[in-house]
Amino acid sequence: MSSVEAVARHPIPEGFTKAHVTPEDYKARYAESLSDPDGFWGREGKRLDWIKPYTKVKDTDFTLGQVSIKWFEDGVLNACVNCVDRHLPKRAKQTAIIFEPDDPDQPAQHITYAELSEKVNRFANVLLSQGVMRGDRVVIYLPMIPEAAYAMLACARIGAIHSIVFAGFSPDALANRINDCGAKLVITSDTAARGGRKTALKSNTDAALLHCSDRVRCLVVKHTGDQTTWVQGRDVDVKYLMEHASPDCPARPMGAEDPLFILYTSGSTGKPKGVVHTTGGYLAYASMTHQYTFDYQDGDVFWCTADVGWVTGHSYIVYGPLANGATTLMFEGVPTYPDAGRFWAVCEKHKVTQFYTAPTAIRSLMGQGPEWVEKYDLSSLRILGSVGEPINPEAWVWYDKHVGKGKCPIVDTFWQTETGGHMITSLPYAIETKPGAATLPFFGVRPEVLDASTGAVQEGNPAEGVLAIADSWPGQMRTLWGDHQRFEEAYFSQYPGYYFTGDGCRRDEDGYYWITGRVDDVINVSGHRMGTAEIESALVAHPKVAEAAVVGYPHDLKGQGIYAYVTVMNDVMPSEDLRKDLETWVRTEIGPIAKPDLIQWAPGLPKTRSGKIMRRILRKIAENDYGSLGDTSTLADPSVVNELIENRMNRA
Ligand code: WT7
Repeated sequence: MSSVEAVARHPIPEGFTKAHVTPEDYKARYAESLSDPDGFWGREGKRLDWIKPYTKVKDTDFTLGQVSIKWFEDGVLNACVNCVDRHLPKRAKQTAIIFEPDDPDQPAQHITYAELSEKVNRFANVLLSQGVMRGDRVVIYLPMIPEAAYAMLACARIGAIHSIVFAGFSPDALANRINDCGAKLVITSDTAARGGRKTALKSNTDAALLHCSDRVRCLVVKHTGDQTTWVQGRDVDVKYLMEHASPDCPARPMGAEDPLFILYTSGSTGKPKGVVHTTGGYLAYASMTHQYTFDYQDGDVFWCTADVGWVTGHSYIVYGPLANGATTLMFEGVPTYPDAGRFWAVCEKHKVTQFYTAPTAIRSLMGQGPEWVEKYDLSSLRILGSVGEPINPEAWVWYDKHVGKGKCPIVDTFWQTETGGHMITSLPYAIETKPGAATLPFFGVRPEVLDASTGAVQEGNPAEGVLAIADSWPGQMRTLWGDHQRFEEAYFSQYPGYYFTGDGCRRDEDGYYWITGRVDDVINVSGHRMGTAEIESALVAHPKVAEAAVVGYPHDLKGQGIYAYVTVMNDVMPSEDLRKDLETWVRTEIGPIAKPDLIQWAPGLPKTRSGKIMRRILRKIAENDYGSLGDTSTLADPSVVNELIENRMNRA
């Protein structure tokens, strides 16, 4: 595909009159959100039900040494009431959660708001019966089952702070998180079923708890019915207790700035960081971004394919959709089980209207061929979303053509665990898209492109540099759990007065933002700075390439050389001819400077369970420094690492 075709604009479809945001709205309301944040957010905050309305809206300070972020600070509310109770008068019989199990032969569940309310109240009473109190931490280590949502909302109901640990994490990672936040109990299940395979969550939890205080209790959801060990006095059968618990549990009034959850995320150095989100600002922002970015309308069926173990699952499977009284789909399985058509089969079966996934999933399904998509009726789809990494134009165009049939706007949503919700994204029917561009900032977000070394604000278009945010928005994280100083250092020390995203960024002649990837992934070849994402994008545009990851490595002449890990399409054999072909391809796509110095054929890339490629590991292997790979416990498949080390190209 030629790059000219790939940057063609995707116009706003005609005939859409009922969108939440129109092109004119966007301009006017965005301007107002910056010029009068108190007025703008004072109104938007009212999308939530408040027990005691706020009188103050914004009180934020980005000054290093005194960073403080508060929104709606004197307001009192309960997040669970906002996601459940307040919908009951109108939506008791409406489906809140569609649960699609791993095994397509098992029936899907449709959980109404009335049923959700009953389950959450019972669950909350179980937590109370175990001595969980307001402000206590509860670790949730569950598969993608409805009980995960019940557990989150039950915590919110009684004012406990949940911290979900992705079910793909190892016992060590689980223990570290339980200990770091001082959790009183951990909620798990017997086993988890994904892609027809079982993971022994309960025995992982047993192993983790060996490294934790013996006061930590273990609530077990008997989900698959598989046999597990049982520690008397410590382990508790949740479903049994729920049956015997009262279906009424009063919701605790919470301050807007009381923590709602902690979510651990990895930094470039050190142990995982416990990102803290609070109640009022986070929920208002999750609700608003869900409604506007996906143009969510009554009757829609919203599907975000993320796991609740990641922030995407928090904001766009649970809190955002449920705050909006939406129908949200929870999928237990994987995109390729029982075959590569599963995503599309689920879209057809449940008449999904908004579909939100990650570029890595799109690329891998793309590699299986469009026939898997074409088998299914996808006419219910209205809007497609992308999240997690820059989407290469090739994947964008494939998504648009084969999944969206050219009629569904694609929202490429740039955001982070730290931001709580979307930061830079197009809005369907309001902002024209360009394949690969995150486009324009969401309401209230003030992005600046800064010169990476001087921090100078890059005025005018086009501009290039690093992405920083000049002022606070309600969904922003407030601190790192137990370490406010590290919070300030990690995000506010690099460019004083700004929140630093850690991402590189380009703003084009139309003012559109293009995220170029983490700045630690930028490489400098013979004095030329290059985004590794750019080279990857070129490589995956080659018809024989399924996936590619590019890192820098020390090079005697150039400073850094370009090291490319390439996964070829299923039916392709790697060869010397293909290697030459790819070199020439990249030279012509970007320029001679971007030609990879080394190409390693990679049957698989080291990825986290959320699909993020772990570049840290790839950089180490490329540097021939594979002795100190650090923590690989979060990898989806740790064995790919040994394969890559054995066949590494740089043995200098
Ligand atoms: C990093 C945050 C929050 C969603 C899940 C990932 C990258 C995320 C995009 C996008 C380009 C993106 C950034 C960011 N990223 N979305 N649409 N386009 N890059 O959350 O694990 O906190 O990762 O993901 O590099 O900094 P996360």
